[in-house]
Amino acid sequence: MELKVGRVASLRGELRVPSDKSLTHRAYMFAAIADSPSVVKHPLRGEDCEATLACLRQLGLATDWVSNHEVHLTPAEHWTQPTAPLDCGNSGTTMRLLSGLLASRSLDVTLIGDASLSRRPMKRIAEPLRLMGATVEGDTPPLHIIGSDALQPIDYTSPVASAQIKSCVLLAGLRAEGTTTVMEPSKSRDHTERMLRAMGVTLLEDDLKVGLRGGQKPEGFEFSVPADISSAAFFMVAAAIIPEANLRLWDVGVNPTRTGILDVFDQAMIPYFVENEHEEAGEPVGDIDVRAVDVGRPFEISGALVPRLIDEIPVLAVLATQLDGVSRIRDARELRVKESDRIELVAAGLRAMGAEVETHEDGMDISGPTQLTGTVIDAHGDHRIAMAFAVAGLIAEGTTTIKGAEAIATSYPDFEKDLWGLCVL
Ligand code: S3P
Repeated sequence: MELKVGRVASLRGELRVPSDKSLTHRAYMFAAIADSPSVVKHPLRGEDCEATLACLRQLGLATDWVSNHEVHLTPAEHWTQPTAPLDCGNSGTTMRLLSGLLASRSLDVTLIGDASLSRRPMKRIAEPLRLMGATVEGDTPPLHIIGSDALQPIDYTSPVASAQIKSCVLLAGLRAEGTTTVMEPSKSRDHTERMLRAMGVTLLEDDLKVGLRGGQKPEGFEFSVPADISSAAFFMVAAAIIPEANLRLWDVGVNPTRTGILDVFDQAMIPYFVENEHEEAGEPVGDIDVRAVDVGRPFEISGALVPRLIDEIPVLAVLATQLDGVSRIRDARELRVKESDRIELVAAGLRAMGAEVETHEDGMDISGPTQLTGTVIDAHGDHRIAMAFAVAGLIAEGTTTIKGAEAIATSYPDFEKDLWGLCVL
């Protein structure tokens, strides 16, 4: 599928972007390990989360959709041995978190994924799970896991700040005999910790180390999923760079481990504010207003800021092309092992549109401001690449054609409709 985008006069209005992908995955998975039924309201109905739900159904979770926006989930007392591989589609979160759950159950399961997921590193979760006593074959998908009812706890130091690694090990530790801890180099998103706490699990937290005692049984819950700041980011950047734009985004998850984009907006002097802050099952939520910036300042992203905005970097790179000076992104090597090599694809696409970009092993330097020119961009199966370049197309001269735009459905099925609803032509 191709998405064609032209320059727009402005961007105005209000929008509730789809619900949070990370939170929807977790709500589904944690409902499957609860001691009683759970209710999930407004889950994200994107392909990644649907893959998680389909895998959990194969393992015995009962799902009852009472409306398009509400599902009642009843956990199986004993998980079912699946008769076919579990297909995680394009979703790294599905494969990595599910592996933690499967490692601690005496099942023999194969996890598979699409071409992009099949290239992504799984050794990062296979290693700690092996140390705990599970059999995990394959350092890239397919992953063959033979779980164990008697896992050993570990104190694991993760070489990367990754919520997927942290969550995987903690979920396995939930059924190990003793206390499991994970230490990470800087703090990654803490949705797992917050949701488990809301389910009555006691966690030990000390700066960058988090742990839990095995044998605790999470309670069923009711959770209404807030909008995804990683999806909101495309519109936030669009509002910042389109003349006279003014946008309100409702009900967005503003967990501080996810709001690095607001730190970048502060650096760039982009006018925004967050209002109506409240909590939903331990997760901060608010409305975000963004206005166009006249002349924005360049930004620097490195160190502890990186995991707080890792999925927003493609669209923040588009922002950088419109700021006055050189923006620098470093310590972001992880971008190379996301749904695509996002450093190479972002740099190649922006250069093709006329921007000045220098790549580094762990990031890039982007000079601005540059008038972008429309061209043909191949999303290479990566939803965030497709949406980031759609935003670039809104300020480019001529037409920007995004090939492979069907990838957008993994996280934002109605992206195109929502975008046109806000554009002033
Ligand atoms: C996610 C964590 C991040 C992020 C991904 C979702 C999660 O990955 O890029 O889109 O839900 O835990 P890493 O934790 O591997 O960096």
